[in-house]
Formats: sequence, structure tokens, C-alpha cells
Amino acid sequence: MSEFDFLASIPRGKDDKPFLLSFGEVIYNFNDIDGLYTMLDKDFSGCIIFNFSKDMNSDRVGSVEVDGVPVTNIYLKKLAVMGNMWALAVKVRGLISEYDRTYTLTIKDFVDTDGNTMEPQDIEVKTPPQVYPEERFEEHESIAYQVAQEGIVLLENKEGILPLASQQTINLFGKGIFQFRVGAVGAGKINPRYIKNIVDAIKEDNDYQLNENLIEFYRCDEDKLPPQNLLDEAKELSNTAIMLITRSSGENIDNTTEKGEYYLSEEEDTLLSKLSETFENVIVILNVGYPIYTGFVQKYGIKGLVYSGYGGMLGGPALWDTLTGKVAPSGKLTDTWANYLDIPSSQNFYDAAGVERLDANSQQYINTVYEEDIYVGYRYFDTFNKPVEYPFGYGLTYTSFEIESKQLNFNPKIGLELEVEVTNTGQDSGKEVVQVYIGHPRNNLEKPKKILVAFEKTSCLFAKEKEQVVFNIPLQHMMLYNPEESAYMLEAGTFTVYLGNDVNATEIGAFCVEKDTILRKVEHLMTPPIEFTLLSQNEPEQSYPQGKLSGITDEEDFSYLTPRRQYKPKFSGKKPNQKLTYQDVKENPQLVEDFVAQFSVEELARLSICGSAGWGMEGIGEAGHVVGIEGYDFPELLVADGNSGVNIHATNIGMPSSVTVSSSFNKELSQEVGKVIGLEAKSLGIPLILAPAFNIHRNPLNGRHPEYYSEDPYQAGMMAGYYAKGMESVGVATSMKHLIANNCESSRKRNHSILSERAIRDIYFKVFELAMEVQMPASIMTAYNACNGSPTASDSELIQGLLRREIGFDGFVMTDWTTYDTVPIVDMIKAGNTWITPGSLDETYTSQIIDAVNNGNLNLLQLQENVSWLIKTMIRYV
Ligand code: BGC
Repeated sequence: MSEFDFLASIPRGKDDKPFLLSFGEVIYNFNDIDGLYTMLDKDFSGCIIFNFSKDMNSDRVGSVEVDGVPVTNIYLKKLAVMGNMWALAVKVRGLISEYDRTYTLTIKDFVDTDGNTMEPQDIEVKTPPQVYPEERFEEHESIAYQVAQEGIVLLENKEGILPLASQQTINLFGKGIFQFRVGAVGAGKINPRYIKNIVDAIKEDNDYQLNENLIEFYRCDEDKLPPQNLLDEAKELSNTAIMLITRSSGENIDNTTEKGEYYLSEEEDTLLSKLSETFENVIVILNVGYPIYTGFVQKYGIKGLVYSGYGGMLGGPALWDTLTGKVAPSGKLTDTWANYLDIPSSQNFYDAAGVERLDANSQQYINTVYEEDIYVGYRYFDTFNKPVEYPFGYGLTYTSFEIESKQLNFNPKIGLELEVEVTNTGQDSGKEVVQVYIGHPRNNLEKPKKILVAFEKTSCLFAKEKEQVVFNIPLQHMMLYNPEESAYMLEAGTFTVYLGNDVNATEIGAFCVEKDTILRKVEHLMTPPIEFTLLSQNEPEQSYPQGKLSGITDEEDFSYLTPRRQYKPKFSGKKPNQKLTYQDVKENPQLVEDFVAQFSVEELARLSICGSAGWGMEGIGEAGHVVGIEGYDFPELLVADGNSGVNIHATNIGMPSSVTVSSSFNKELSQEVGKVIGLEAKSLGIPLILAPAFNIHRNPLNGRHPEYYSEDPYQAGMMAGYYAKGMESVGVATSMKHLIANNCESSRKRNHSILSERAIRDIYFKVFELAMEVQMPASIMTAYNACNGSPTASDSELIQGLLRREIGFDGFVMTDWTTYDTVPIVDMIKAGNTWITPGSLDETYTSQIIDAVNNGNLNLLQLQENVSWLIKTMIRYV
């Protein structure tokens, strides 16, 4: 019987008792901390989900036991995405934690809306066997370890509490023990061969013992305060307490300023307060995917604070080796950490604290006006002299460094040359990140006090060792956009050069630009559809963001839509004399136009629509594929997500989340990360990875914060560009995403980002431009949101203007998955968006294209041109 027939045959009469449907074996992988469904609802993290056969009474919640142990957290919810069936989510995390075992779930006393009580049901749950490291993957996994380690940021180290002295017992506290997160939720999820968490790492280290009683206690999966006898016992074993604070984060849902998300939960606060009273030393590990409020450091006199992020499959050993000093921390913050309400974008970001949480598919249309303009992250705090918790670029290590400028030369035709000497002035070895910022002269144009223009990580320097670092900073990395001139330029005046190891760098010199220097003249594109006040240094108080224009609108469509300029297709449409196959074009790429010109409208439409139900539900778990055309030897091309590993059913490498890769500030390492994921993708039959994702960290509550790189366009652009370079170097295609201004998940398909042309060019597009300078990607993915009057997916000025004509992008453009829920397919094709995803294998979507060509609503030449970009790109990879 098919699943469909089975569902139809379920007895749902008034007197029929409800029961739980189970389709085959139930497997629970306790290393997959959040599971697939957290993306739909944060409550589902760590749960096994079942469906009831009937509509259930949510006031009559029954009970669940795991091998006789009662489960505390049970959720009964009706879910639209599950065909409006009632789901029972049972939080088994902590209770199910042994490899290769069968557990029995006893479920009883749930009642349906007709008043029938279910018969008790026993369901067997299996856990997978333990997987051990294999020699053949050693090289790849050593990169995963290294980047996890180099991405760890040491934020506090009072009285040199770290590294931990050896031969002590480790007291771990908090639900983070069983919720040690190593990856993001959604597209940034990893599916690694195995995982080593912090407990695994401590157990493998003979120099330390673990207080196992605390581990047992935290099977409750909550941040509970242990009973006094456990605390007394712990204190006797060691006067140091390590508390893990953990947060899930990822696609689909933004975080909020509720307690337990941006702020500590009541339980965390109580626990931390008690730990600081009880123990002499308290160290907090932030196993979080986004910055949270760290006011607790002062409040409770926390001595050590470590931001570990999501460290990937070897996140545990990387963290442990850092805490014990086997390796020194060398990560730096990619974001300014500040109190949320001090961040100017907080005025214009949908924060669901106390109001309805909106997810990606919410129906409300939202406007998000970027009143903070170019003052994102440190560009605001540094320029306006506002206090922060931890500045951009900041991170401690176990030694100290002196960074000295040796020589500074400015050549007005080439740029800035800077020679720097770094000396390890401390006792231990370590790496330092040298950061160069410049301050532009303040003439007419609003400008931040300084911007990052270069950074380099040293090699591991022994005590007293020195290293020379040479920077050649081209003018293009310093230029800023001037909307009055519609040009990227350096305005005449004195430029200040700053050197250091965070944004509070020291002024080391200056150079003069004699006259206004235009580096690139451009056309005005994507200008904002409404006027609004931009934050300005001239009137900081009057211009400070008010948030009045942002929020849910009453409209049932994107408001402020504005027409875009149209670009004529360059495609000639001339048919070849003889039939050409894919192989012919592969051998001779000059033939692409001829090859494409021979396709019928139906074939062109087929190539324009991805052929998958999407999101890994089919095949090997790919997100989609290019459907081959019969008769032309046309190959299929599978695509999968993969910021941190290949996101398909087969297990593979599990790298840290991008923000952690980015915190390493190690470009070569980021390149290695891309290369390793590329090699693994290749061996799994995936020629195109939907990564890197690197939208600007505009606001810390963005659900996708861990997947993205930085608040700074230069830093993010470089780190993401090098990742792409590594991946493309092994012949695997990348898709840089999500173009553009995709800065929140709430109602993401109905969210309209409104920003100045300057913010686009100096921040939000700049990051793409810089990454593409390092590596032209095979493809670009547009975003779900609209930007300045047009959905990004159907924005001809974005795709054909900025991307193709200005930057010279020569790959193909694809939509984000199901963008067609809110944007007409034909509009996207007209704008030059080639590949509509995830599509289907039937005619649902292709017919829209065919009809449009046939009724004259779509220029065939545009369709052909779009497809030719796809073919030109494909032949390089398959
Ligand atoms: C995400 C993309 C991802 C795609 C395919 C979408 O929901 O926004 O980043 O590549 O799904 O899985």
C-alpha cells in the first residue's frame, strides 16, 4: 500500500481510538542535537516526532517513558507542513545517549478531540553504532579540527584562569553537556561521519578526570541547579566550574530578545549566580551561533569567557585543547558584541520577543528600513564612540604580541604598501591576527571613522619569535561609493592608517590623496523607493533610527514596488546547421550559443526549472538537480547545500559553521575548508555546492548568523571568497548566496529591505564584489526578500546591471528554493534569473514559461540567453 493509500485508510470515525503512525524503524541519532524539525519549531530540538492518526486534544497530554524513565518535555502540535496532522514531539535528548542500543518508548493516555483515549503504545527506537575516525579521512578531518580551534575566541581570561591546570577534576554544568552544538539548523546543517563533543574530548584526556555525577545530573537536558550535595562534592574536587551556555540557530526562524535566546534564561542566570557564589573560578563557554548579551561576566565575576561557536565534528577536542593550552586560542570576533538595544539596526529588525514569532513562510509582508545606513557593526560603535562589550576583531590568547609598523608607502596609482613586524613578547607560543584599517578624510561624504582594508594571520610564533607581514592594499579596497558622483572614489585629503589586533587599532601614519580620484564610474541602480533619514554624524541624535517605517504592513504584496530598467538580451538566436550535443560544446565552448539555439521552447523551459521536490526529500538527499534533455547526451547536475559539509543523506565531513571559520581570520585555512568540502562533494557525486552564504551580519538576531561570516564586508568577502576558491580549485562549483540584503528570516519571502544606494554599494553588495574578486563563482543565488522596490530574484538591475555588467559575472543565476511562492516565475526569467528552484519534474512550472513565450510575454532570446549561462557554466564541471 502506498503511503497515500495508507493515510487515506486510517480509521478516523468518532469512536475510533487515536494511535501513533509509525513508518518503519525509528532511528534517533543523539549527535544530531537539533534534528531536522527544529527548523520548523524550536521546541522540536532534541525530539523524536510521531504523527497521530486523529485530531488530538491538546489539553489532554498523556505521558511518555523511555525504558521506564518519564520524559519531561512533550509537545503536541498540529502542523501545516505535516498535512495538518497532529505531531507528538518527545524530547529524548539526554535520555537516549548510548550508541547501538534499542530503547523502548511507552506512550499512553493521549486523547483525541472525540474523547477517545489511545491504547498504550510501545515504540522501539534504535541508535546508530559508534563510528570511529578512519585513516583515509585524517587529512580532511585535521582541517576540520584546525579551523574549529582557530575559530575559538577567548573573550575573558582574568587572573590567567586559562589554560586549565592539569591533573584536576572537571566540573561541567548546564544542559550544554547534552546539547553541545556543532552545527547550525537548516541549510547550514552538517551530517558528519562522527562527532566528538566536549565530554568525549575530556574523557580521552588522561591528564584530567571528569566529574561524572554532574554529567548524569544533566541528563535532564535543562539548566537546573544541582542539589547542594552535588555542588559540595564538585567543589571538593575542584574550585573551578565550567558552565556551557548553548543556543540553536539557523534558517527559517530568527532569534529574539526573549530570555533564553539573546539574554540568559532564568535557569541559566540562577545557575551562574550559584556557581559564582560557590566556586572561586567560573568559566563560561558560549556554544552559541550568534552573539548574546554578556553582562553576566561583570555581574557574576566570571573569570573565563570563551566563544566556541559551532565547531563542527571536532568541535569538542578543538575546544578542550584550547582550554587546556595544548593549542593557544587565536580567533577574533567577526562582529561587535554590544547590548542589543545599543545596536542601531535593532530599531528596524523584527524581534518576536513578546509578539508572534514569524517564520520563513509567514504570510505577513514586512518592511525593513536600514536607517542605520552604512553604520553597521563597528562602523557605528567606533565612529560614534559608543561602548561595546567586545569590539570587532577582538580575541585574547595565552601570550602577548607587539605589532610594529616598519614602513608605509602610498602610491596614488597603486595603493598602500605596509611592512609590519610582529613579535611574540610573551612566554607561550601563539598566532596573532594583524589588522589594518584606514580612516578616510571627512569631506562632504558621510564616512565611518575607520574601515578594515587588510588582515593577515601570522604563523604560530614561539616566545620572542618575530614575523614580517607585508600588505599591498590596492586602491580598490579603500574606495567608497559617492552617490553624488555615482562613482567609487577616494576623496582628496588625508587618510589615516591604523594598525592593531582589533578595531581599536593604533594610528601609525597617514597619506595624502591630492585630488578626488574616481576609480569606477557606475550607473545609479536599485535606488531606494522611498525617502528616509539616514544616520549621520552631523546630527547623531536627530538621525538615530526610529523604526517607524519598518514592521508588518497591511499590504498583500511587496509595498513600494518600483520599475526596473530593462536590458536587451545579447543572444542572437541563430540556429546551427547541424545538431550539436553536450559533448560538442564541452569540447568547444564557443558553440554554446549554437547549442542553445537548437532547443525547443519546451526544452529551454525544462532546463530553466530545477527538477526536485527539494530539501533532500528525494534521491541521495540533494537539494535539486538540472534535468538533462534527451537526445543531446545531456548530463544531470546535482546540487546540495554545503556551507560546512555536504548536506545530503550520506555522512561526510563536518566543518564548523561559517562564522567560526571566519573567526579564524585565516584565509588560507578557509580555502582549505572549501577544498575539503569540495573533494568530499565530488566523491559523493555532487558537482555543485550551494555555498558560501555570506550575507552581512546586520543584526545578531538573524537566525542565519552562524551560516554567514561577518559584519564587515571586507572580512566576510575575503573569508568567503577563499572558501569558494578552495572549492572551485578541485573542480566543484560554488553558488554564492543570497544576493542581496537577506538579513533576517522572519517572513523572509515577504520581507522588503529598503536601504540607501550607498549601503548597497559599500556594504551589502560590496561583500559579494570582494568575494567574487577572490573567486568568480559558478553561480549566484538570489535571495527570498525584496530589495529597494523589487524582489531580488526578479531584479534586472541587480542581476544584469550590478552583477553582469558591472562585476562581469559569467556564471548562472539561480533562485532560492520556492521563491516562486511570492515572485512570478516569468518575472524572474525576464530579469535574467536562469534556474528556478526547486521546481518539479512535471509541467507545473515549465508550462508557465512556455505559455509566456507563446503569448509574447517573454522574449525567447532572454530565455535562451539565461540557459546559455547555465550551459557555459555546466560544461566546466560535468
Ligand atoms: C535556503 C538556501 C538553500 C536552499 C536549498 C533554502 O531554504 O535559503 O540557502 O540553499 O534552501 O536547500
